[in-house]
Amino acid sequence: MSASYEVKEGIAVIIMDNPPVNGLGHATRSGIYDGLKKALADSAVKAVVITGAGKAFSGGADIKEFNTPKTFAEPNLLSVITAIEAADKPVVAAVHSLAMGGGLELALGCHYRVAAPGAQIALPEVKLGLLPGAGGTQRLPRVVGVETALTMIVTGNPTPSEKLAGTRLFDRMIEGDLMAGALAFAGEIAERRPLPKVRYSRIDLPNHEAFFKVARDTVGAASKHFPAPLKCVDCVEAAVTMTFDEGMKVELDNFLALVQTTESKALRHFFFGERAAAKIPDVPEETPKRPIKSAAVIGAGTMGGGIAMNFANAGIPVVVLEVNQEALDKGLATVRKNYESSLKKGRLTQEKFDQRTGLIKGTLSYDDIKNTDIVIEAVFEEMGIKEKVFRKLDEVMKPGAILASNTSTLDVNKIAGFTKRPQDVIGTHFFSPANIMRLLEIVRGAKTGKDVLATTLSLAKKIKKIGVVSGVCDGFIGNRMIEQYGRQAGFLLDEGCLPVQVDSAMEDFGFAMGPFRMGDLAGNDVGWYVRKRRYAERPDVVYSKTADLLCEQGRFGQKTGAGWYDYKSGDRKPYPSQLVNDMIINHSREIGVERREISDQEIVERLVYALVNEAAYLLAEGIAQRASDVDIIYLAGYGFPMHRGGPMFYADTVGLPHVVAAMEKYAGSRHGKFWKPAPLLVKLAAEGKTFN
Ligand SMILES: NC(=O)c1ccc[n+]([C@@H]2O[C@H](COP(=O)([O-])OP(=O)(O)OC[C@H]3O[C@@H](n4cnc5c(N)ncnc54)[C@H](O)[C@@H]3O)[C@@H](O)[C@H]2O)c1
Repeated sequence: MSASYEVKEGIAVIIMDNPPVNGLGHATRSGIYDGLKKALADSAVKAVVITGAGKAFSGGADIKEFNTPKTFAEPNLLSVITAIEAADKPVVAAVHSLAMGGGLELALGCHYRVAAPGAQIALPEVKLGLLPGAGGTQRLPRVVGVETALTMIVTGNPTPSEKLAGTRLFDRMIEGDLMAGALAFAGEIAERRPLPKVRYSRIDLPNHEAFFKVARDTVGAASKHFPAPLKCVDCVEAAVTMTFDEGMKVELDNFLALVQTTESKALRHFFFGERAAAKIPDVPEETPKRPIKSAAVIGAGTMGGGIAMNFANAGIPVVVLEVNQEALDKGLATVRKNYESSLKKGRLTQEKFDQRTGLIKGTLSYDDIKNTDIVIEAVFEEMGIKEKVFRKLDEVMKPGAILASNTSTLDVNKIAGFTKRPQDVIGTHFFSPANIMRLLEIVRGAKTGKDVLATTLSLAKKIKKIGVVSGVCDGFIGNRMIEQYGRQAGFLLDEGCLPVQVDSAMEDFGFAMGPFRMGDLAGNDVGWYVRKRRYAERPDVVYSKTADLLCEQGRFGQKTGAGWYDYKSGDRKPYPSQLVNDMIINHSREIGVERREISDQEIVERLVYALVNEAAYLLAEGIAQRASDVDIIYLAGYGFPMHRGGPMFYADTVGLPHVVAAMEKYAGSRHGKFWKPAPLLVKLAAEGKTFN
């Protein structure tokens, strides 16, 4: 039973107890339900107090039970709330720390609510593409007002309890001992009748038509691709215009419909995928971790500065090492500018600004970093330079320090081999801008110690990144896949597309940026450099030559004021370039390809299925542990549209036999060899299975 029951001076006290946040799983719900029954049957009990043990009143649904029949098993949350509301003795919710989702709905079903200040109050279901399904959309507007409730329900963001103190949500705010205060309150109201029920509270909203029209326009514009926020508006409107029971029906119908949407399934996939990514089968949770109390970063360039900020933001002192004073000053000045801009925008207090900038120090000497717990190398992407740095690190770093590389493509095993402590070496592949992008691809070398991997995964959490583990291969998971996507984008140019058509098709599909705009942002020279290496190492892998022609003209992208597009100074807007378009068309002629009309559907299929096929190889090779890891990498690091759930989830949604059929269709075209479906994809499709 995940709830305790006792009687104190005529007041029954039910304490939910299901760590970490008293999720309303079946045992907890049963505990509340049975406790209530006992209290009502006991003539010595005058009132009931419900609260939560430990760190929460209740965080809502128990995620351990998600997608299992237990979620709906009786007593389900609605039955518990109905029983509480119908009780003939007053039931008081004593809210503290956290009352979210079903937890808040439970409190709203009680006759009274008292609260401690500082509790986070929220209905966050919309973040999973759902809406509160146990009366939240009907009861919250009745106690906090329509506008506040609508904002809370549509954004899902928490509001501190003291901000809601003046509303009917809380009958009393209690400073100090909450339980003592709740018992005293219960004693005071024990004999009071009739028992107040939120369902009978009236909502007055003159001009509600106009209000909801504006709400729909605003919410609709902000929630492109996701149906849930507008459905939340429908439900809150029902709370205003219908009877309580009619409104409850609208809420339930909408909830059940949203559960079935791909968008909600995609968001839930991300939610659970993020949690799954932290689990490594042969590295159990209890694996000992090394303490990380200090850090160093080698190289203060684009990545080094951003990486250092992550440590400072998490309160970990960090030393940045450079080759010369000029580079160091430049790198640290960029970091400072970033913080100053946050300060100016009000995103950072002066105190936090001082604290964070104070935690970052620069140096030119390895003496200043040798005692740090972790060092992350972010120097130029050249094996020779990495070798020098790692040999030096091996020489100077204290025993037990983690030696990490931010390389985006190089062989981490080879890098580990430059040291006599390969067990301490790991890849930490951050994404640009490193202080903002949430993805951290963690590259596990053949000899990386389990404690080093466990420590790096927990460090990822500490610096607020989503850590996903990859094995060693060229490009790891994310970049090895994007390479195939990029190759297809290039072939499309050879065959008949112009950059703007490819970009628009991918942006309509939901990507924040198509491949060519992305190239202009990241720098086309990066890929050029990689391709030059490939031409020597893998002459069998063919690419469109258009990107090389572009780079030969110095059109590296936004940083050179010209790339696939033209740019005007002081403006990041891409303007289609006549020069580049002519170059592309000429190139087709030179290689003897007759340009043709290419549909948006073909563009999307070729780019997305190129990702899917490569990922199927990565899974079969064991480089990626699970399909959801691939999805998380693409959602958190590559701008794959969230409502599509990642490439593998998307392929599952389309149906793997359809994916294979499309690939077979393209196998007859130019570079048809590309479209040989990976054996794992073929097998899953034939067996009627999915990746996830
Ligand atoms: N830029 C990206 O988008 C990105 C993304 C992920 C990973 N990476 C990887 O991160 C690493 C750094 O990339 P970047 O874009 O920050 O490069 P960058 O050119 O902006 O910065 C590299 C910095 O390293 C310094 N440096 C060079 N040799 C050094 C040495 N021996 N000791 C100390 N400092 C030295 C340079 O002075 C320079 O400031 C590369 O391995 C790259 O592949 C880059």
